[in-house]
Amino acid sequence: MVPGDANPVPHPFHVDANGVDRTPGPDKHPYYAQFAASESGIVPVVRQVGGEWLPALLICRYDDVREVLRRQELFSRAAAAHADQVDVSGTMLGMDSAEHAAVRGTVKDSFTKPAVSGLGDTVWAAAEAQLAVLVAKNGRADLVGDFAVPFALNVISDLLGLPEPDRAQFRRWGDMFMGSGDLSRAEAARSAEEMGGYLWQQLDQRRGCPAGDLMTRIATAAADQPVDVQVKLPLSLIVGGWETTASSISTFVYLLRTRPYAGHDYAWDHLLKHPEQMDGAVAELERLHSTSNGDEMPRRVMADVTLPSGARLTEGDIVIPSHDAANRDPRVFTNPERMDFGRDPNPHLSFGYGPHYCIGAHLGALEVRVALALLLQELPGLRLAVAPDEVRWKQGHAILGPSELPISW
Ligand code: HEM
Repeated sequence: MVPGDANPVPHPFHVDANGVDRTPGPDKHPYYAQFAASESGIVPVVRQVGGEWLPALLICRYDDVREVLRRQELFSRAAAAHADQVDVSGTMLGMDSAEHAAVRGTVKDSFTKPAVSGLGDTVWAAAEAQLAVLVAKNGRADLVGDFAVPFALNVISDLLGLPEPDRAQFRRWGDMFMGSGDLSRAEAARSAEEMGGYLWQQLDQRRGCPAGDLMTRIATAAADQPVDVQVKLPLSLIVGGWETTASSISTFVYLLRTRPYAGHDYAWDHLLKHPEQMDGAVAELERLHSTSNGDEMPRRVMADVTLPSGARLTEGDIVIPSHDAANRDPRVFTNPERMDFGRDPNPHLSFGYGPHYCIGAHLGALEVRVALALLLQELPGLRLAVAPDEVRWKQGHAILGPSELPISW
């Protein structure tokens, strides 16, 4: 099936009709660029949710995607819960309007640009500490397990104030929580329950004995929220904050070490010579190779509406604003498939837009920039320890990225 066919296209595009992932890797399916450039930019798709194939409309033009993300009174997340592949009910991601603002409001001040820029030294120190563990591996290690995952997990856990010895179990819970598919839906419920029990205990401790950390803030500021909402607030910060960031670090290192750029065999060599281009490079990698599967956040249309492109939607439609398609809209990004570290402006939507704009966007981007800068500085000879096509990529997971990245230096 191709764009323009009357038949709905199975979605995600890289999974075939039998649920088998055919093209794992960091590159987006070519449909995204085709759909973004198309006149209507609205693509009927079918997605497997809880064993059923559900219809939805994928929104692909940049202005339309922003409109859907911006107007939550017209495009409701809460009313689309049945169409979610990952169960995010009770978290910010599953709420609308006043309810959403109340929950987000309890922690948003800790993640503003000024608040995060004050964390630069702490994040650098956490990266250095983890790099020491990696370097002790004697010339060969797994960038995912030995560096990216523990580093990102430690940053968010330190901020929340969660004890170090408890962190090992977060990864198991997180993997179960973010899995998509039938089996993993049951596992996700179990992990949310286990992790919720643990986080409730932590909140309870802070109420008796305030500790000046983010958990203490949640324990007091969100005390009037239902228990489920209170525990899912730190849960969404941990799960949303570490897997995405760790996956971005590993995916971007893979790309920098395998893709040519500006006359260099590898973009890595270009950045070694031009470290001042780090911010532009990270923004461009985020645009082209977003690790957050934004296409899994459907919304329900609450009243008939016409989008900026002129496309009409009907009350009750389930729509999916596609960040990956919007990031390739040639009306906004000149030559969109070209990787250009100097692209300015680069208003990509890989952190979303509007009320659900990623609360951790500044923190996540800081962590990615720090990790890449430190690796370039300390391990300039870093390279993949296996052939690029031997790298294994996560399957059936809402966050995209390699499951392991063997490196040597
Ligand atoms: C590079 C890393 C990251 C990427 C690519 C990413 C991506 C995203 C995206 C696309 C959304 C919006 C989903 C939508 O449209 O509905 C989102 C929301 C969210 N992100 Fe991130 N994120 C990253 C890092 C973080 C970090 C570090 C944290 C935690 C501190 C975090 C916590 C959240 C939360 C709690 C939401 C829900 C916000 C709301 O619904 O109001 N993320 N993220």
